[in-house]
Amino acid sequence: MSSPQEAHGSERAIGPPLGLLAELTHRCPLRCPYCSNPLELDRKSSELSTETWKRVLSEAADLGVLQVHLSGGEPTARPDLEEIVRHCRAAGLYSNLITAGVNLPNDRLAGLAEAGLDHVQLSVQAPDPETNDAVSGLAGSFEQKMATAAAMRTLGLPITLNTVVHRRTIGDIERMIQMALDIGARRLEIAHAQYYGWALKNRRSLMPSRAQVEAAAMVVEKARAELKGRLVIDSVVPDYYARYPKPCMGGWARQSLNVTPSGKVLPCHAAETLTDIDFPSVREASLRNIWFDAPAFNLFRGTGWMPEPCRSCERRELDWGGCRCQALAITGDAAAADPACSKSDWHERMVTIAETDARAREDYIYRGGRSIPRNVARKAWHRSDITNS
Ligand code: SF4
Ligand code: FES
Repeated sequence: MSSPQEAHGSERAIGPPLGLLAELTHRCPLRCPYCSNPLELDRKSSELSTETWKRVLSEAADLGVLQVHLSGGEPTARPDLEEIVRHCRAAGLYSNLITAGVNLPNDRLAGLAEAGLDHVQLSVQAPDPETNDAVSGLAGSFEQKMATAAAMRTLGLPITLNTVVHRRTIGDIERMIQMALDIGARRLEIAHAQYYGWALKNRRSLMPSRAQVEAAAMVVEKARAELKGRLVIDSVVPDYYARYPKPCMGGWARQSLNVTPSGKVLPCHAAETLTDIDFPSVREASLRNIWFDAPAFNLFRGTGWMPEPCRSCERRELDWGGCRCQALAITGDAAAADPACSKSDWHERMVTIAETDARAREDYIYRGGRSIPRNVARKAWHRSDITNS
């Protein structure tokens, strides 16, 4: 691997980041088993202040960032969200609120729209209350999400519907597409669970089978053709069953950056799983300084750091070696080729993990223990055993 200094020297030509994921808080009313946030969440007492967030957003705009994704946890847990949105607007940043859509009264939503919110991304766990509430760990959340979606539509906020699919819900994609149409979404984002953070704990209860993934891909292809011009559907094949990895976050420190609730700056949302890397903080340096000069940002930037097989691979500037977080999780080496790649020595092991986990039958492990109404969780589990296995 090249030293950070060498990598940095070769990356002077790197452009500014286009997107900033602002994780305003880790607090969240839901407890999705696929949560990719860290096992150890930032506490409320460690969250950045309103003034610091405003400073960070101004620095992002100066740096060249165009879009800010206000995320969490659940960003509406912050009472200063309106002020933050207003600041995005004043700084010329396009703001996208990523929300679970619960505990979000209509007047609060109207206030956010009035403050200049440009777009909302609403996450829904499943197209029916029973499964949605079991997966989210919050009884009644489906009903609240649908009410929020209706209010968003009334306010004229552009909506992207987001759903994370896994073994229990991957067979529900057709119904999610219908839901996207019903709520007036312009875009549907179908994300597959990514196994870092809390999601790694639940891999055995989440992993779909190859047959499920292939069937889902066919549903998406058909719908894309039928709904062209009405609904954009984003979906990629999950890594475990792919031949090549995806360019995670468009490549390490190439297009976007994350700021955590306590102010750490990361090149990707799961980078805190790379525990040997010292990530900088907005409390100590400017975003510009961090983006161009922080050793953590230059560590895997570009191609100079790559070992074989990536170093001599013709795809190295297409996928940038895949995901560092996944490389560490599976191989124990963050600098290895992403094991999702068929050229990796670890690829067969990764496929075996996926196929073995896809046959496992385990209950979800929720953050904070299992305290959702057991009948809700149980019913949905048995239903999915019938329909999705
Ligand atoms: Fe991507 Fe590396 Fe695999 Fe080539 S060898 S396809 S660069 S992960
Ligand atoms: Fe960290 Fe892919 S999530 S590099």
